[in-house]
Amino acid sequence: MCETCGCLATVTAASVNDQPIIASAVETPPPAQTAPEPWLERFSDGLQHVVKVSVGANGKPPRLFRSLLNGTWLGHPLHPAITDVPIGAWTIAAIFDIIWLIAPVANVWASHAAFVAVIVGLIGALGAAVTGLTDWSDTYGSERRVGLYHAILNVTATLLYLISFILRLLDSSNENVAAAILGFLGLIAVLSAAFLGGDLVFAKGTGVNHTAWETAGKDFVAVKPLSELEENKLVRVNLSGAPVVLLRQGERIYAISARCTHAGGPLNKGSLTGDVVECPWHGSRFRMSDGQVLTGPATNNAHRYEARVRDGQVELRRVTPATFLSMGNVS
Ligand code: FES
Repeated sequence: MCETCGCLATVTAASVNDQPIIASAVETPPPAQTAPEPWLERFSDGLQHVVKVSVGANGKPPRLFRSLLNGTWLGHPLHPAITDVPIGAWTIAAIFDIIWLIAPVANVWASHAAFVAVIVGLIGALGAAVTGLTDWSDTYGSERRVGLYHAILNVTATLLYLISFILRLLDSSNENVAAAILGFLGLIAVLSAAFLGGDLVFAKGTGVNHTAWETAGKDFVAVKPLSELEENKLVRVNLSGAPVVLLRQGERIYAISARCTHAGGPLNKGSLTGDVVECPWHGSRFRMSDGQVLTGPATNNAHRYEARVRDGQVELRRVTPATFLSMGNVS
């Protein structure tokens, strides 16, 4: 078990050795790293625990509130969409403050507009914080550290804007030079945080669909003898380089990507309830019959494959790629 986050990272890495390992750099979670700042890791452990208890991540399925914050219902992570609100509003506030500072008497309207923009940004920051912390609670290793720095910068920005808001509020005309300067500092902090947020996604792959690059041809390919497919047992096979998990239930054979879209967890090692498989890493649930993600933290559906039997062999072919338009659904 991963010492950093308690996930099944090490167990899983060992378990894939008896199976075809495809794109293991994506499938195998990053190894737990030696923490350069133990107090920071302890703080992260504690904060992640508090967040998970608060959003219900530690509870039993279906964990609807956590999925709501992750954006499973939207088919897209919710946090990056909400962050546009404080960044946009506070950028506008800075522009209005500059206009006001250039000509305070003639442009007094701009100080009022900046005041409104600061309020909108603060409301947006609250939503961004809740959704961001929920996403961050499932990270570990270096992405957890960068995520924490990202959060600290955002909290700093929010506090600066909160003080700026109070100063403007206390001034009946909303004209306050100190409030404007605090706003400029807050904007620097939130833009720095946004830079780290981009690093998390584009450099570390946090929040991306971990099956986005999986491809398979449109033709049926034999993957396993039907006689080796036990009833109600998840079995991993390899289809043209893509890991696929099979489930046989009566006359039906279901097949979806074996790699969890959230962070690449091995669904073939997950637990099965009816035709719903639960990822062993963070508990995302997928319907085997169509790949639909039911609850997060995953926000993307799993790739689905069509199965048929020919000459005693189970054959598969890719059906439809999971896209933003195949919306997630919390249920
Ligand atoms: S890898 Fe996170 S829920 Fe599957």
